[in-house]
Amino acid sequence: MIIIIDFGSQYNQLIARRVRESRVYCQITAPTLTLDEIKALRPEGIILSGGPSSIYAENSPRTDPGIFELGIPVLGICYGMQFMIDVLGGKVRGAGKREYGFAEFTAGQSEGLFKGISERTMPCWMSHGDAAETLPPGFEIIGSTRNTKIAAVAHPGKRLFGLQFHPEVEHTPKGKRILENFLFDICGCKPEWTMTSFAEEAVAAIREQVGDKKVILGLSGGVDSSVTGLLIHRAIGSNLTCIFVDNGLLRKNEMEKLKVSLRQHLRMNIRFVEASDLFLDALSGVADPERKRKIIGRIFMDVFEAEARKITDVEFLAQGTLYPDIIESVSPFGGPTAVIKSHHNVGGLPEKMQLKLVEPLKFLFKDEVRQLGEALGLDEELVWRQPFPGPGLAIRVLGEITRERLDVLREADAVLLEEIRKSGYYRKLWQSFAVLLPIKSVGVMGDQRTYENILAVRAVTSRDAMTADWARLPHDLLGTISNRIINEVKGVNRVVYDISSKPPATIEWE
Ligand code: XMP
Repeated sequence: MIIIIDFGSQYNQLIARRVRESRVYCQITAPTLTLDEIKALRPEGIILSGGPSSIYAENSPRTDPGIFELGIPVLGICYGMQFMIDVLGGKVRGAGKREYGFAEFTAGQSEGLFKGISERTMPCWMSHGDAAETLPPGFEIIGSTRNTKIAAVAHPGKRLFGLQFHPEVEHTPKGKRILENFLFDICGCKPEWTMTSFAEEAVAAIREQVGDKKVILGLSGGVDSSVTGLLIHRAIGSNLTCIFVDNGLLRKNEMEKLKVSLRQHLRMNIRFVEASDLFLDALSGVADPERKRKIIGRIFMDVFEAEARKITDVEFLAQGTLYPDIIESVSPFGGPTAVIKSHHNVGGLPEKMQLKLVEPLKFLFKDEVRQLGEALGLDEELVWRQPFPGPGLAIRVLGEITRERLDVLREADAVLLEEIRKSGYYRKLWQSFAVLLPIKSVGVMGDQRTYENILAVRAVTSRDAMTADWARLPHDLLGTISNRIINEVKGVNRVVYDISSKPPATIEWE
């Protein structure tokens, strides 16, 4: 495995992605990790990330210089290289002017980091204010750009390397090859990390952590909690109990599909708790979106806890926490802080019930979770399910919620999703769904005047839900969706398409 020491660069996750795409396992760690902790992880190589600090700034992040004496290959990127040069006796200075963007890099050798790259000159992506001026003993320059003489360095004997540019970004086209040379040739890693091998290790780790104790898990129907459940189920079988709460705000046939795919096919131990009356009664007359969320969150907690207490001797609560939730490079000085993002629904439960956490996905990115789901035999439909908010259809029936309005939305949403799936757009979209508006409009059906509901269709593309663009769906597809909904869903006589992006709009309407 490779350790990436986090000096606060915005590209840290990208370094991790690149290493894992090359099928080598890696972990991002804080610079405060001690030498003993590093040794205990038995890394085959260490990557020092970039970072926004100047090496001379007060409190600039540092890690134990002993890492350069472990005999483990080290690659310093940008600030990481400057740190290495600084602590080993070279000199780094303020570069006068910042170098940002494309630069033409000329490699001074064709082996080592640059093995197999036929061109000597290649574009690279720079983003730095400081630059190395003199090298520590034993180091040599292995590449330059016009503005940066010391753009790549090596100490071949100690297998220490530095790059002033960022090999991890797309704008450095040969970056992947350079990183792979470091991983495979220099560190001797093998491209063996697959989801099957991850699953085996994770199952062993869960058994070790949990032993013969019982675990509970809140299943939401999404890919993260489903894969978490599957993995733990594989490790401890029926000592895992999953709890799925039917809050009456689910999409059409959602619970039935889970029963078939998780309980029937994969034999998971799941308790389905029917609580829709509790939720819908409490939501009656409530139109404010935030009040809706609070009510739903509170009732969920109560129902989940009551069900969990029926299971005796539970010691662990499982959660589908993902890697981006625990990496947080916000502090330019601190490196990552392990912030455990509590599941929006069960936050507080671990303390209240004195449960320990099991989080087997906490080192995976979302697309890796999907691959893992596939490797574990999860239904294709569940693996690729678009995100669905915890408060469910409650925040898509705008204004007051009634059972009738939920039914109208549920039917329209089912038609919409069927057409989106048929068209091949489902996986390309971050989310696609229907929203029932709290106003009516006039229409004509047959010879009759109608005065019915308006339904909005929302479809967006996004990488992470922080920003989103409205999807340019083909007009014919939108036409079919509109036609089918107006014809097949009683109570809707008009369909509109939402063409706002986030920001300034949000993805959900409430
Ligand atoms: P917005 O509407 O803020 O949504 O652009 C961003 C993403 O979060 C989902 N979302 C929620 N998920 N509880 C959840 O679990 C919520 O209260 C909630 N509100 C929004 C939304 O579907 C989108 O993926």
